[in-house]
Amino acid sequence: MPNSALHFDLNTVRERLPAWQIDWFERVDSTMTEAKRAPLPGRIVGAEEQTAGIGRLGRKWISDAGAGLYVSMVLTAQSTPVVMLALGLATRNALASVSKLNADLRWPNDVLISGKKCAGMLAQLEGDAIIAGIGINVSQTQFPPDLETPATSLLLEGKRVAREDLLVAVVQAVEHYGACSADEILRQFADASSYVAGKRVRVDTGIEGVTCGLDPAGFLRVREDNGTEVIILAGGVRPV
Ligand code: BTN
Repeated sequence: MPNSALHFDLNTVRERLPAWQIDWFERVDSTMTEAKRAPLPGRIVGAEEQTAGIGRLGRKWISDAGAGLYVSMVLTAQSTPVVMLALGLATRNALASVSKLNADLRWPNDVLISGKKCAGMLAQLEGDAIIAGIGINVSQTQFPPDLETPATSLLLEGKRVAREDLLVAVVQAVEHYGACSADEILRQFADASSYVAGKRVRVDTGIEGVTCGLDPAGFLRVREDNGTEVIILAGGVRPV
């Protein structure tokens, strides 16, 4: 059951986001799972702690109590790749407004500060709805050394940020991008990301080449050394 007697000031967040139904839990396995129980657009499920936080590609999302922002927002369905990019942009811009940090975006969904992952998101279709899961590392002081991408938190980057302010900024930014065209989202993503063009990357599938833009659906184009252009539909990329 939601527990409102937490140090996270849920009441002020509810006042600042009156259009959203916010259910906050002290501990869940994953806010994704919890949101799926009642995937009503306009609902936000958040938790102080996740015992089985879900990352993309079968990975776990480290979700220590009170150290991060762990939320799933239920949105109305749109095309998934652009939604992923919009969520990344929204999170990046929310971080910028609350912490003044200038994060990079690694296609499709990583928010990086100084090359380390500070936030990630995933989107799952549930009937007519999209469940958008957003995780932001806020006040962790250490991470396991064996992560595929090294992680950082806002605190490790020298910023103390109230999770309440961060949540309000993220939700407002998601609302903003919900009203933008796909073209505009693609343009802004490309402007904000050092990965969209001119970056040498290796794709999870083993393909290696230089990125050369996004296609109209938001997929990443990579030019291999033999000149072949490949559209990356899924997975992730790493700099080489
Ligand atoms: C990734 O970069 O791999 C995606 C991470 C998404 C993590 C968030 S935390 C809130 C929501 N609940 C989950 O279990 N996962 C997402």
